[in-house]
Amino acid sequence: MSRIAYVNGRYQSLSAAHVHIEDRGFQFSDGVYEVCLYLNGKALDFHPHMDRLDRSLLELSITPPMGRRPLGRIMDRLVARNRLRHATLYLQVTRGVAKRDHAFPACPPRPTLVMVARRFDPFALLQRQNSGVHIATLPDGRWSRCDIKSVSLLGNVLAKQAAKDAGADEAWMLDSDGLVTEGASTTAWIVQSDGTLRTRQLGNDILPGITRQVIMEIARENDLAIIEEPFTPADAHGAQEAFIASTTAGVMPVIALDGKQIGTGKPGPVSRGLIARHWSHTARETGFHPVQDGLLIL
Ligand code: PDD
Repeated sequence: MSRIAYVNGRYQSLSAAHVHIEDRGFQFSDGVYEVCLYLNGKALDFHPHMDRLDRSLLELSITPPMGRRPLGRIMDRLVARNRLRHATLYLQVTRGVAKRDHAFPACPPRPTLVMVARRFDPFALLQRQNSGVHIATLPDGRWSRCDIKSVSLLGNVLAKQAAKDAGADEAWMLDSDGLVTEGASTTAWIVQSDGTLRTRQLGNDILPGITRQVIMEIARENDLAIIEEPFTPADAHGAQEAFIASTTAGVMPVIALDGKQIGTGKPGPVSRGLIARHWSHTARETGFHPVQDGLLIL
């Protein structure tokens, strides 16, 4: 079966789906996006993703293309039409099509709305969560509004590729003071020697991650202390554990940074506890639980 995309009101085969060459998303990165996870055909953390989408659109003065409920119905329908049980759903909204001119068009065009669903393998995710990942550090060369989930991702793309070239799975980007901002597509965390979780505070230099928000709630419910302060690679090397977090990576243990082992070099107990609790949260929202579904147990 060929994959089906959604473009401005139409469900089309991926090969036929297209956007206009003068779309401001293509010419100026003038657009925003979300990536949602579907398990058992149900969206995980739907409302937090929609809250962030609304905020990103507001920051760019783009009118939302439609209300949240119809948008959610289209997302669900696209996953169903692609006959996917587990999927990632990529949603992009741009300012729309206009004659090329840097400033916003005086007469706002109709925003472009595009969605693509792709098969997601929770078995592969659990396997990676069991083994952990390697990180490489590099200067954060992105723009100054990383809090907007903007499609201007060239800095992130270059960081991820540099990490890959260095034999790592993810990059941790460093600000001018040598402090970690975040990963190319994940938030960055350490577990200090006293068991406290540490991650950078929200601000213009990081994306307000939905998984970050969920981890904060899990920590609060389980009396785990969190400090929202930046840390250096040296802090990470002195930490018990480290992990990254995102919609598609969940809570993912970090076992090495710049080629040097972190903690025991294996996923540690705090990360594993968070992985289990995050999967419980996922199960409450979607009905999908790795244990019930016979996946490997952490
Ligand atoms: N990335 N930081 C950046 C720069 C990101 O791109 C992402 C998500 C995150 C984690 O946010 P969340 O928990 O809401 O997924 C942090 C998505 C998955 C992507 O671009 O594919």
